[in-house]
Amino acid sequence: MKIDILTLFPDMFKGFLNESIIKRAINTEKVKINIHNIRDYSKDPHKKVDDYGFGGGVGMVLMPQPIFDAVNHLKTNESKVLLMTPQGVTYNQTLAYKFSSEFKHIIIICGHYEGFDERIRSIVDFEISIGDYVLTGGEIPSMVITDSIVRLLEGVINTESHKNDSFNNNLLDYPVYTKPLEINGLKVPDILLSGHHENIKKWRLEQQVIRTKERRPDLLAEKR
Ligand code: ADE
Repeated sequence: MKIDILTLFPDMFKGFLNESIIKRAINTEKVKINIHNIRDYSKDPHKKVDDYGFGGGVGMVLMPQPIFDAVNHLKTNESKVLLMTPQGVTYNQTLAYKFSSEFKHIIIICGHYEGFDERIRSIVDFEISIGDYVLTGGEIPSMVITDSIVRLLEGVINTESHKNDSFNNNLLDYPVYTKPLEINGLKVPDILLSGHHENIKKWRLEQQVIRTKERRPDLLAEKR
């Protein structure tokens, strides 16, 4: 899997790429992640990447030329182009599985400032929103998408760890406990200490259903 991210703020990705599971996935060559500065593709003598919008209005608009050139440069037959925008389809775990299992090369465009030239949409395969709120740009959304895709790639984390992830089967994950056996009067449920694997499995599924009913009944309504 290769992921190319187009951004005006490459430094925002330094911590993301250099910690924890993402760092390990890069080091073990499960994924290649390249950060590209959109400014490097500007043909403007002053490396301009945005300008005032025609028709007036506040804020600067990201120009299409640097984006078109960057995508043209990076794109192959296997590439899918994702645009981060609050106007996109709302991202979820089903899309994370789809992107992780079906795509070999992903190019992510991070919008910034007040907006981007509408014509940028013409070269995009998927417009993605990470939720109904507006961020200052697409950088954090692109990290959210990348993180959720990379952790699902073969060999990145133990498959057991994501088999029970929240949202699989439209259910939230079950509660887990570690040491000590009791704290502040709160005990680890006896069933987890029973050593009876079948009963533990049953209890966990029950807990998933109870939790989902309480917290996210909308997921159960969606259940296929
Ligand atoms: N850019 C700004 N807000 C966003 C959001 N919620 N999702 C994706 N991209 C964005």
